Amino acid sequence: MAKRSPSASKHAAAKPRRRAGRGRAGASSGAATPSTGNVHLYVGISLDGYIAAPDGGVQWLDPYRDARSGFAPFIKTIRACIMGRTTYDHAVTRYGATGFGMPSYVVTHRPLETPQSGVVPFTGDLKELLAMIRAAHPGGDIWLMGGGGVTRSFLEEDLVDILSVAFVPTLIGAGLPMFPPSTFRERRLRLVGQHAYPSGVVELRYLRA
Ligand SMILES: NC(=O)c1ccc[n+]([C@@H]2O[C@H](COP(=O)([O-])OP(=O)(O)OC[C@H]3O[C@@H](n4cnc5c(N)ncnc54)[C@H](OP(=O)(O)O)[C@@H]3O)[C@@H](O)[C@H]2O)c1
Repeated sequence: MAKRSPSASKHAAAKPRRRAGRGRAGASSGAATPSTGNVHLYVGISLDGYIAAPDGGVQWLDPYRDARSGFAPFIKTIRACIMGRTTYDHAVTRYGATGFGMPSYVVTHRPLETPQSGVVPFTGDLKELLAMIRAAHPGGDIWLMGGGGVTRSFLEEDLVDILSVAFVPTLIGAGLPMFPPSTFRERRLRLVGQHAYPSGVVELRYLRA
C-alpha cells in the first residue's frame, strides 16, 4: 500500500541506527552508508492484522487512496524490492503484472513458470540475497514488499531494518496475516514516525530499539 503525504513526511529523516559490529543497520557486511541498503518493510494492513483477504484479494485497501500520497517519498529511497512467491504469483495472475518498475527479487523454493522482465527468483541464504542486491543496486534501500510469509523469514534472521505499517480502519475478520506465527526472538522497536490520514489510516514507522 502506498502511503504518506510529502507534507506530513515526519518519517523522512528517520535513519536506522548503526548496530555494533555491523556495517549498516541490519547488515552483516558491506560498506554502504548507514542510511542506505536497509531492508524496509512497507505494507498496509487491516486493523485486525491481515494483508489480504482469504482469497488473496486486497480490494479492501481501495477506499483509502489518500494514504497512497506518501508513496512517492518512500519509493525515492528504494533501489530494489523483495517479495514472497505468493505475492508475486498473485500480482501476475490476478493483476497481470509484467514487472514492478524496479529490480525485483522473488524469494521462492521453485522456478518461476513465466519469468518477467527485471524479476529474479532467489532460493537460499537471505543474507546472501541482501549482499547481492546491495552490490548490484547501491545508493538506496530495499523494499520488503511482503507478504507475511517472506517477512517472517526475514524477521527470523533479524534482517528487517525499518518497519512501516499503515493500519487501515477496516476489520476483515479472516485472511492472510501480516505476522504469521513465528519463532523469532522478542525484540523491541523504536517509533520514529507517525501520520494519520483523513481516511483514518494511521501509518507508523519503527526502527530497532
Ligand atoms: N497489504 C499489503 O500491503 C500486501 C503486501 C504484500 C503482499 N500482500 C498480499 O499478501 C498475500 C501473500 O502473502 P503470503 O504471506 O501468503 O505469502 P508471501 O510472503 O508473499 O509468499 C510466501 C512464499 O514465499 C516463499 N518463501 C518465503 N520465505 C522463503 C524462504 N526463506 N526461502 C524460500 N522461499 C521462501 C515460499 O514460497 P514457495 O515455497 O512456494 O516457493 C512461501 O510459500 C498476497 O495476497 C498479496 O497480495 C499484501
